Amino acid sequence: MAPVFTASVYKSRAILLVGALLSPSASAYSDFSTKCTKESCDVVEGWIKDEISGSGVVSYTTSQDNADRLTKRVSSFEDSDNGGWQKIKIDASKTYQKIQGFGGALTDAAAITINALEPEMQTKLLENYYSASGIEYTVGRVPIASCDFSTGVYSYDETAEDFELEDFSIAVDSSDTTGNKLGLIKTVLNMAVNPISLFASPWAPPAWMTQTNSTVGNPSLRDEPEIYQSWALYFSKFFEAYRNEGIDFWAVTIQNEPAGNTGAWQDLKMTPEQQRDFVKDYLGPQLESTDSDLKIMMHDDQRVHLPTWTSTILDDPDAAKYIDGVGLHWYSEVEDYVTWATKPFDKMNDVNDKYPDKFMMGTEACNGFIPIIDQGPKLGDWNRGERYGFDIMSDLNAWAVGWTDWNIALDLSGGPNWAKNVVDAPILIDTEAGDVFYKNPMFYYLGHFSKFIKPGSVRIGLESTGNLISAPMEAAGFLTPDGEIVVVVMNRDIAGHKYNIEVTGKGFINVDVPKHSIQTFIFAP
Ligand SMILES: *[C@@H]1O[C@H](CO)[C@@H](O)[C@H](O)[C@H]1NC(C)=O
Repeated sequence: MAPVFTASVYKSRAILLVGALLSPSASAYSDFSTKCTKESCDVVEGWIKDEISGSGVVSYTTSQDNADRLTKRVSSFEDSDNGGWQKIKIDASKTYQKIQGFGGALTDAAAITINALEPEMQTKLLENYYSASGIEYTVGRVPIASCDFSTGVYSYDETAEDFELEDFSIAVDSSDTTGNKLGLIKTVLNMAVNPISLFASPWAPPAWMTQTNSTVGNPSLRDEPEIYQSWALYFSKFFEAYRNEGIDFWAVTIQNEPAGNTGAWQDLKMTPEQQRDFVKDYLGPQLESTDSDLKIMMHDDQRVHLPTWTSTILDDPDAAKYIDGVGLHWYSEVEDYVTWATKPFDKMNDVNDKYPDKFMMGTEACNGFIPIIDQGPKLGDWNRGERYGFDIMSDLNAWAVGWTDWNIALDLSGGPNWAKNVVDAPILIDTEAGDVFYKNPMFYYLGHFSKFIKPGSVRIGLESTGNLISAPMEAAGFLTPDGEIVVVVMNRDIAGHKYNIEVTGKGFINVDVPKHSIQTFIFAP
């Protein structure tokens, strides 16, 4: 993770740094986390179809000021609006992309920290993410071998020049080195109330495949056909080994952050041309022969690079035919106060216009990644939750089919991370106590999307209007496979707002919402 150091990223990062300094979270902030112990841990109350029959509306609210945390209420449509200046109008006759889902990454660091909890608390934590009493994640990302959120560098085949990968083994994934990451994945798949779409991403190949015999410092692959072929084979070996453990994947990204990282941890640097040729000549044909149902995502990097990467790869039909989607990270353009300058969501709309048959998916995001100024966890920081909400909402309204958080859990210092690249996470674990974890506002903001916008939902038409004083509230609407309409509305303002949602044929949902809040509404069309 973390941005690449190109000129354009420096530019947007400079703006971001100014933004971070000006942001209230950079200095003083309040702790809005909730604490989970054996005795108490909040759960999300379910809803039933009867509650939305006729004019019924089920809503869930999370707000900073009155301790609502995915708090359920039942109300009804009304015949007239409440006179609020903020208006949202739903048009279910307009339809857009189909949703894949929402989730987080099952990293070594997550497995290690979750293992530090007593078994009862491990179950409680995972239920928060995957069960009906939690936020019902439907996506999981799995690193292929080590990344910075590992205890060190390892690969699945350390035998130099083993081109046929005869010594390939995922044994490390069941060992203490990874916190038994494989066991965590199996537990998650067993527990999840919804099917989980897993996707895998490599950070680096075995060091012997690189030009520098090292996976740090942004290496490139050795420029030899045997190496390209061997690296492509490595992907097939990974999926075969996991299949033998009963684990099937939905998708793969060709490379995590191929444009490079700071150089301090594992990576494999590729130019867009190199990624194009690798997928065209090696990875595409290889996976077609062994894993033909697997979706292949290109890019898996910052939105700032979208135009160059998509045009280089997707304008080549022999490469494009293997590509199903485009993975996106948020780091170079993380916040609303930079988006006016770099317009990341316009870039996504452009990609959809040019390549409507390729999906876009948020594949990684986290807070607390800016060295010195804003690094590591901030227990209970509301602003970081709102950033998640803003980014998810904006991605969805710019054609993304889903959004993937980074580590599902970390310790209170934002690790373990062997390269000291610590960050924040929606759940932080007191690994010393072993029976306490904390849910950050990010957890709840994510839950307002993940729990309700089920896989297979379709985004529908929605218009949100404000007035001269207040900008329109951010909102997105969906039709679920079960035939409900789900609308998510965010108020990032420092003031509360009166607003209404108009649905033709049903009337108005009238709402008076507090400052810094997010709501999800469910009703019948
Ligand atoms: C690559 O690095 C490994 C581990 O440091 C070392 O054992 C090996 O000799 C190196 N190979 C080459 C070709 O330099």
